[in-house]
Amino acid sequence: MSKNINEKQENHQPKKYKTILADPPWDVMQKGNYGAINHYNLMTLDQIKAMPVADLAEENAHCWLWVTNGTLEAGYDVLRTWGFRPVSIFTWVKPRLGLGNYLRNSTEQLLLGVRGKAPIKYKGQMNWGFFPLQDHSHKPEEVYDIIERCSDGKYLELFARRPRFGWDVWGNQIKSDVKILGYPVPEYAENCRDFTIENSSESERENV
Ligand SMILES: C[S@@+](CC[C@H](N)C(=O)[O-])C[C@H]1O[C@@H](n2cnc3c(N)ncnc32)[C@H](O)[C@@H]1O
Repeated sequence: MSKNINEKQENHQPKKYKTILADPPWDVMQKGNYGAINHYNLMTLDQIKAMPVADLAEENAHCWLWVTNGTLEAGYDVLRTWGFRPVSIFTWVKPRLGLGNYLRNSTEQLLLGVRGKAPIKYKGQMNWGFFPLQDHSHKPEEVYDIIERCSDGKYLELFARRPRFGWDVWGNQIKSDVKILGYPVPEYAENCRDFTIENSSESERENV
C-alpha cells in the first residue's frame, strides 16, 4: 500500500466509542393510527440487526438500547447480534396510562449490554426512574446524565434527534457525526467519521 494511501487512511481512521446509546425506529406494532409510523420512518428487525454497531464500538464498551415492552425480546436479540451481552435493564416509569392489547403500557425499557470488560462507573445507580413525557418518542434528558454517570465516553447516540454536548450523533433527522456502511442519512457534519472506509476495498480507499 502506498504511503499516500496510508496517510489518507490514518486521517480517516474512525474513532470508536466506549458507549453507544440507540433508540431504533422499531416497526413492531407501530403501523396503526397511533403508531410511530405517523411520526418517522420505521425499520424492520432485520435492518436493525444488520447494522454494523460492533464496528463503531471499542473492544470494551457499553450499549444502551431503548425498547418498548413489545420489542423487549427483539431488543435482547439485537444487543447480542450487535456484539453485546445483556447485563441489566433500566425502566422509565411514565406518568400516564398508555396503550396496550393486554396490560396498558406506562413504562419503557432501556437495556444495558456490555462488550469485553467494561465495569459500571457508578455502583449506586438504581434501575428505574419516574420522568415526564415530552413529544412523541422523546426520551428523558435525565437518562443521559445516568448514562454519563455509569458509562465511559466517548459517547455516540444512534437515531438521535437532538445534539448533546460531549456526544456524537447519528440519525436521519440530525446532522450526523458518523457514516455507517449501508446506512446513509441525509446530512453529515463537516468532519464526520467515516466507518465505511475500514470495510471498503483498496481501490475505493484510493478515492477518499
Ligand atoms: C424512536 S426515534 C428516536 C427518538 C429520540 N431518541 C428522541 O429522544 O427524540 C427513531 C429515530 O430514527 C430515525 N430513523 C428512521 N429510519 C432511519 C434510518 N433508516 N436511518 C437513520 N435514522 C432513521 C427516525 O427518523 C427517528 O428520528
